[in-house]
Amino acid sequence: MAESETDRRSSSRHARTRDPLSIDEKISRTLKDLEATTSEAVAELFAEVTAAMESERQALIEGGAADERERSQKAKELRDRWLARKGGLVSMIDENWLKPASKELKPGVGRAFNELRRRAAALETDRLIQDVPVRGGAAALPQQATLKFGAGVPSLKITEAATDLTLPGFRRPLGSIHPVTQVMREIEEIFLGLGFAIESGPEIESVYYNFDALNIPETHPARDDWDTLYVNSETVLRTHTSPVQIRAMEKHGAPLYIICPGKAYRHDNPDSTHATMFHQVEGLAVDTDISFADLKGTLDYFARKFFGDKIKTNFTPSFFPFTEPSGELSISCVFCGGEGCRVCKESGWVEVMGCGMVHPEVLRHGGIDPDRYSGWAFGLGVERFAMMKYDINDIQLFQQGDVRFLEQF
Ligand code: DAH
Repeated sequence: MAESETDRRSSSRHARTRDPLSIDEKISRTLKDLEATTSEAVAELFAEVTAAMESERQALIEGGAADERERSQKAKELRDRWLARKGGLVSMIDENWLKPASKELKPGVGRAFNELRRRAAALETDRLIQDVPVRGGAAALPQQATLKFGAGVPSLKITEAATDLTLPGFRRPLGSIHPVTQVMREIEEIFLGLGFAIESGPEIESVYYNFDALNIPETHPARDDWDTLYVNSETVLRTHTSPVQIRAMEKHGAPLYIICPGKAYRHDNPDSTHATMFHQVEGLAVDTDISFADLKGTLDYFARKFFGDKIKTNFTPSFFPFTEPSGELSISCVFCGGEGCRVCKESGWVEVMGCGMVHPEVLRHGGIDPDRYSGWAFGLGVERFAMMKYDINDIQLFQQGDVRFLEQF
């Protein structure tokens, strides 16, 4: 006889209350199958998983082991159940919950997953082993050993835990590479591939290299105390990486293809887009017959390599004292694809770097004959690139050293 709709619904509800899914069963289903469509439901699921993991760990610790062999075996079993690369519960959560999660839920699921992974590190075999007591084995060790170092030297009391030298050592959690460093390396890779070399210069720089040699006149507002951190009247914390252009020209002459990744400092009030210390990558190409077309071609190639082939580039005129003509490179907004959004201020474009043909006066200051050689240069902000690449909206996060932020990269 056909079941009525009411019967079916009430029986399935009944089935659910009578026989709730085990944690393993939940993990083997997707969030959609589990009808977890809100962030609250997701949070609840992760709380359940975390509680299950913790109680299994506690049970192992409380149960202890008869001997070392059993302890290793039990610890390994629990570790593999949760952390095995293939079929471990954590990687199943990755496969079944995180990867197929809807666009709306994904950031929250990602965060919860990272937190779970962090906690799951307590299940690594060598950490577990330290927590699980061995019955009999441990009792065989003296409760407290006293070492005597002869007359006059105070005796040293070592507790049982410290004397068992057979225990594995503490494993320090592995860190990750800072997102600014990652982005800087990515930029370096692209330019190294184009035949550029990496140069560096001092962060405590002379006024001459930071300003004069770059054709920044005494009256330029950037020389004002407000923007520049002066060490003394002739020395500053470099306000940009551009002084390395002069140093590299002096050192190597032409032809020259270099980039300089490094720190720069400004007397700015910190906010979500300004920091007193930030990173730049400077670029400089000097050779015979270098034209604006070389600049455009290279920077267009670079921008596509970094942000992806879909983006478009746009050059607009600008002004920098060390380039003539000067330009700004904008890319079509990576967030809205050029449609217009909050990030690009509805314009569809985001300005990403300054550039231009090296001013003849600057070449001269670098000891290069502007009648024989020409060049192009650019300068970009690394934090800005990282913020666009990873959708980060506050530059301060890069310097706060918050592990919860950093471990996402
Ligand atoms: N130094 C400039 C700044 O910090 C950036 C810059 C613009 C560097 C144009 C260049 C360039 O080499 O050609 O704002």
